[in-house]
Amino acid sequence: MNRKIQPAAKLSGTIEVPGDKSISHRALILGSLCEGDVPISNLSSAADCAATVSCLRNLGINITATKDMTIVRGKGLHGFKESSDILDAQNSGTTMRLLTGLAAGQPFYSVLTGDNSLRRRPMKRVIAPLRQMGAHILARNNNNDPPITVLGGNLCSIYYSMPVASAQVKSAVLIAALYCADSTTVFEEFPTRDHTERMLDYFGADITLSQNEITVAGSDLKPREIFVPGDISSAVYFVAAGILLPDSRIEIKNVGLNETRTGALDVLMEMGANVEIAKTGIRNGEPVGDIIAGYSRLRAVQIGLERIPSLVDEIPILALVATQAEGTTVISGAGELRFKESDRLAGIASQLRLMGASIRESPDGLEIDGKFPLSGAAVESFADHRLAMTLSIAGLIADGETVVRNAESVTISFPEFYDMLKLIGGICENQ
Ligand code: S3P
Repeated sequence: MNRKIQPAAKLSGTIEVPGDKSISHRALILGSLCEGDVPISNLSSAADCAATVSCLRNLGINITATKDMTIVRGKGLHGFKESSDILDAQNSGTTMRLLTGLAAGQPFYSVLTGDNSLRRRPMKRVIAPLRQMGAHILARNNNNDPPITVLGGNLCSIYYSMPVASAQVKSAVLIAALYCADSTTVFEEFPTRDHTERMLDYFGADITLSQNEITVAGSDLKPREIFVPGDISSAVYFVAAGILLPDSRIEIKNVGLNETRTGALDVLMEMGANVEIAKTGIRNGEPVGDIIAGYSRLRAVQIGLERIPSLVDEIPILALVATQAEGTTVISGAGELRFKESDRLAGIASQLRLMGASIRESPDGLEIDGKFPLSGAAVESFADHRLAMTLSIAGLIADGETVVRNAESVTISFPEFYDMLKLIGGICENQ
């Protein structure tokens, strides 16, 4: 399905975005490892999280959902059963990598697969440490490409220094570590999102943090209630819209403000953006607060390797913002973007260029010249949700109509995206 986006004059309003996708995956997976019921409120409506629910059900976990509450009937570390069918992670890298970690702890056979996009994404990064822990894992193409088969059980602890910055890999190892008698340590040079660590601690696991090391020892998890804060990676599209459109003011309530996730807000403020953040509390170990964004004059910024993990999913929207900043923005150390749902460096550069942006690709980043006015065009999202949402916001600031192709991909992380855009004054119809 395509979406037609009309140029917007100004946007305003107060909204709440749905629950954080990363925290939702962890609430479901770690919840199923608890000894008892875990009630989860504000769970993400993302298709990715629905894939996690369906895989966990196939592994024998009872999950019930009403409009306001999802209940995961945790069965403890050893309550899973072998699935009689493949586990389909669909488009979700987090589902596949975290569940490979969980499957490594099970003394039975699991097969994990996904859609065309996921079957092209690198899995050796998660298979390698789990094999070191003793799991029997095979995959296509020299143990890299899904489907992945896992025969787990009898794991031993390891010290693992992460060769790539990846919260998904780190989380898979930490989940498998729960099944080891001794403690397992993961070292990461640049901190990636730490939701798994915070939730393990909240559920009473034996976890210690020091410098860039996380150590987990085999432990049982105790059920407790979870509230999932709003997804900062969804909120950021509305923050960008508020910044880019004259006279706009958008307030987003109850957003997760974990500092391993707020790198894009820091960058926007460094660019001179009119963004106010008010922390309002901590829910199950996760900081929560409100964000207000208003129209701003922007200057270019440099974003290097060390900052990438804290804004890895926000690079497409930051690239769009940079087209409207004075000077040339340089993003480097972001080669990982070539291995996401699509090659996001190539995708965003080629499609923003079609709209009139001056943007160059490097092997691991982008160079974006500002300020270039954008014109409406027919652009391709490559069925990648983050590209579809970025190009839709680009359509709001462009001159003339923009058509975003394969825009239904927004359901992967944010099914309510277009409805919320309409709520604050955007015009975006199905074509
Ligand atoms: C995620 C981690 C990130 C991110 C992805 C979600 C997670 O990937 O890009 O959208 O929930 O752990 P990496 O594992 O590559 O850091």
